[in-house]
Amino acid sequence: MTKQVLIRLSLLATLLIFSASLSWALPGDPQRGESLYVGTISFSAGGAPCLACHGIFGHELGLAAGANYGPDLTSLFENYGEEGVAGVLGDLSFESMVAIYASRPLTENEQSDLLAFFSSVATGTAPDIGSNFVLHVILVTALLMILIGALGWRRLQGVRRPLVERTRNLKGERV
Ligand code: HEC
Repeated sequence: MTKQVLIRLSLLATLLIFSASLSWALPGDPQRGESLYVGTISFSAGGAPCLACHGIFGHELGLAAGANYGPDLTSLFENYGEEGVAGVLGDLSFESMVAIYASRPLTENEQSDLLAFFSSVATGTAPDIGSNFVLHVILVTALLMILIGALGWRRLQGVRRPLVERTRNLKGERV
């Protein structure tokens, strides 16, 4: 009885930690953000890639062969700040864009990937995914150990007991 409760509690804790880690430890991936911006990865709702109208550092000419329709977004992060950019990405209600994105909003992941990309363009740094990656590996390993601990222990009890009993029986028969 107490074993069952213990197992359920640790499973519950695992789930809680896991879901918390998903929302808290998954900041955007700037490389994915760049791919979304450029269009090598499509927005899941089907919105046009930003590069169709906005040049940016490293991609100065928009997809429309130099006919930059919207303003260059290289200094977007410096101008708007992190919260400002996050707000813009959640809304995208600029006059020329609303027709595209009002019915095709970006997902939260897409927004944070783009945010990370704009931030990396502003700081001119290589995407800093190293520390988050390590954090994730540690988290996932810890979760796996908890899971294996809870499930493995239970299975061990289930497998071991009959084995021990069988051995005892065998010995008993031989004597
Ligand atoms: C169809 C062309 C088009 C696409 C696609 C597009 N934009 Fe725009 N965007 C514009 C235009 C044009 C403006 C200038 C304001 C206006 O006319 O609405 C603008 C303005 C902006 C601004 C304000 C810039 C400033 O300096 O104030 C931001 C931020 C922005 N767009 C972000 C994005 C992002 C992010 C994407 C991709 C998810 C995107 N845009 C896709 C055309 C586009």
